[in-house]
Amino acid sequence: MPSSDPSSNIDKSNDKSNGPVRSFGRRRGKKLRPGRERLVDELLPAITFDVERSLAEQFAATPTDIWLEIGFGGGEHLARQALAHPDIGFIGAEPFINGVAKLVSTINDEGIKNIRIQPDDVRFIFPSIPDGALGRVFILFPDPWPKARHIKRRLITDETMDALARMMRIGAELVVASDHREYISWALLQINNHPDFSWMAENAADWRTPPPGWVTTRYEEKALIRGVKSTYLVFQR
Ligand SMILES: C[S@@+](CC[C@H](N)C(=O)[O-])C[C@H]1O[C@@H](n2cnc3c(N)ncnc32)[C@H](O)[C@@H]1O
Repeated sequence: MPSSDPSSNIDKSNDKSNGPVRSFGRRRGKKLRPGRERLVDELLPAITFDVERSLAEQFAATPTDIWLEIGFGGGEHLARQALAHPDIGFIGAEPFINGVAKLVSTINDEGIKNIRIQPDDVRFIFPSIPDGALGRVFILFPDPWPKARHIKRRLITDETMDALARMMRIGAELVVASDHREYISWALLQINNHPDFSWMAENAADWRTPPPGWVTTRYEEKALIRGVKSTYLVFQR
């Protein structure tokens, strides 16, 4: 996964094949160990989000709701949520193959049935998600791209918010967390200015403490080790 300044990891491999969406961020790190490489070859194709099939068809049991996690990293949060909510269908997107391989390994070890993976930029699957299909979306510790000239690389753009507004049903929750102060203030303005989202906080405790049912993420843990507290924003569609 990229560090706080991932500018050295730009990947433009999608520029031509995927139209106007331009992806940034690291796709590959250390060589995968043989066990994980085998799982990526054999199990990942069976649990990859399939743009050709309906959401209901993609999960073994018909899910009561669909939740999306964007940028799941190593999938620690996504796996724990999927285990805690076996009736929900989860879609997780992450272009970094080493993180995808880690999640596939957890899915295999723990027998998780209710996750479908988009092993690439989440924006490529937006057109395949029907209007109002999503009940919850997590964007946890997104890359802050702190340099002014890189702000346009941030995930939270007007286009992303318009797409989320379309895919999320009325009353659905968007959870955004970050340990990067400037970034989270900026994200709050972007999202709160969107006509379809309302910030649910009533007092400081609401953004200083994680929402109920929280699962700590790897980047959140890293921040805690550095003595940095994170901010948790919950919006309603
Ligand atoms: C800083 S990491 C955080 C990982 C994890 N959420 C955590 O808290 O430990 C941000 C992740 O978002 C992923 N990411 C960035 N842009 C993305 C996009 N357009 N679609 C899906 N994932 C994306 C990156 O590859 C990276 O792994």
